[in-house]
Amino acid sequence: MADTTRKTLLPAKYHDAVVRWRDTFIPDYGFLLDQWDNYFPNKPHFELCAYYDCSVCPNIEVGQDQGKPKFTSAGQMNQEQADHLLKAVKAQASTELGSIQQHRLTLARAEHEQDQVWILRMMAEELRHGYQMFSVLLDDDWKSVATTSGEDMVEEVLNMRTGSHVLGAFNIDFDSFLDNSMFCAVIDRVGKYQLEMQKVSAYRPMSESMPPMLREEAFHMATGVAPLRRWAEQTARGAGTVSMGMMQEAVDKWFPRGLDMFGDERGGGRNVKFGFKPMKNGEAMEAYIQEMQGVVDDINERYVRARFPKLARAEARNALKKLTDGDAFEGLQPDELITLPHKRYFRRRGPHAFLLVDRAGNDMTDFDAFRKEMGRVQPDAYVVNRDYIDYLEKARQVATGELDQVDAVRTMPQLSRVGGACPCSNAVRWVVPESNGNGAVAN
Ligand SMILES: [Fe+2]
Ligand SMILES: [Fe+2]
Repeated sequence: MADTTRKTLLPAKYHDAVVRWRDTFIPDYGFLLDQWDNYFPNKPHFELCAYYDCSVCPNIEVGQDQGKPKFTSAGQMNQEQADHLLKAVKAQASTELGSIQQHRLTLARAEHEQDQVWILRMMAEELRHGYQMFSVLLDDDWKSVATTSGEDMVEEVLNMRTGSHVLGAFNIDFDSFLDNSMFCAVIDRVGKYQLEMQKVSAYRPMSESMPPMLREEAFHMATGVAPLRRWAEQTARGAGTVSMGMMQEAVDKWFPRGLDMFGDERGGGRNVKFGFKPMKNGEAMEAYIQEMQGVVDDINERYVRARFPKLARAEARNALKKLTDGDAFEGLQPDELITLPHKRYFRRRGPHAFLLVDRAGNDMTDFDAFRKEMGRVQPDAYVVNRDYIDYLEKARQVATGELDQVDAVRTMPQLSRVGGACPCSNAVRWVVPESNGNGAVAN
């Protein structure tokens, strides 16, 4: 850690609550610590704590308050600003913990111990990110905008389970270890964009939280991409267990969720106005799409080079260019490579939400044809999932006019506390929200 970094712990009772949560959802945490020096010999040991990088820009960098000193407490902001920020912090905390619950389902199915240990480290770091957001919540007094105390907000997040998290991508169960890898490569990358943007946050504790989280996020993306590259090279040589087709299906499952996490592409203006982010949702999403295209190109290039090992790198690039232009190369067909689905495909937020659109981005008119097309594209294990079935039903209702598109988006299940504030309750459920906002966060 840089010497401008301040390290803090939560008050003991909250720290202990997070440790108990960790014991439940990362039961292999002890194994990770035992293996740490074998797999990460040059990395300092993991610590469950909050880090604040005090070297961030002290003044507000964008929006209506640009140039003024950053806010150090919620009370310095206007009500709307503080409310917007509080929602973002809570949602961020929820996604951090949400991904741990997803990863643990299929962690044991990794091919190699190294893959498992990398995922375990990533899970521990996500827990630290959640802890960081708890620290941001508990260090301030939110009573100007919150009816619940910091204590209740932390309890609320710790009680969430897959199915009750704020953002859709964190409510989808993993079906195989391929999901662990693709999630890190696709969804954690959205996280990187969000953290990068929040580095400018007008709320100084948020801004100071970002640099250490971003350093960890880079590792999470590598955790995802490394097995994808390996599988591409293995399958090109006729070996391995994961084909390009399987990776394609996983891209088609997760990439639309990544896009949704930016929020409605027409929105995000308030984040900029309030000084919380430098870009609106649509701008950030376009940059992300470009970066994801680079990830896909890299995997394809590795596949081509492994399939034709005699090709020099430049020749492999030329072959790849030919293939992406739609021509075959030495018996390799263009459709054997991975492509990104169109940004209109399989969306749940924004102008394309729940529309009948095929993966090439074309409108479809017949729902049954759309359902078949979806079933053809999406992984078999996923199409029997509640999440997928709910999506299809909503798309059908929008197509028939039974449900307005805006209502379909608005009625996406959201986090809410129901049934009182019993300290041991699991009273956080899927409910229809009062307002869906356009907040965008990630892991
Ligand atoms: Fe992450
Ligand atoms: Fe994270």
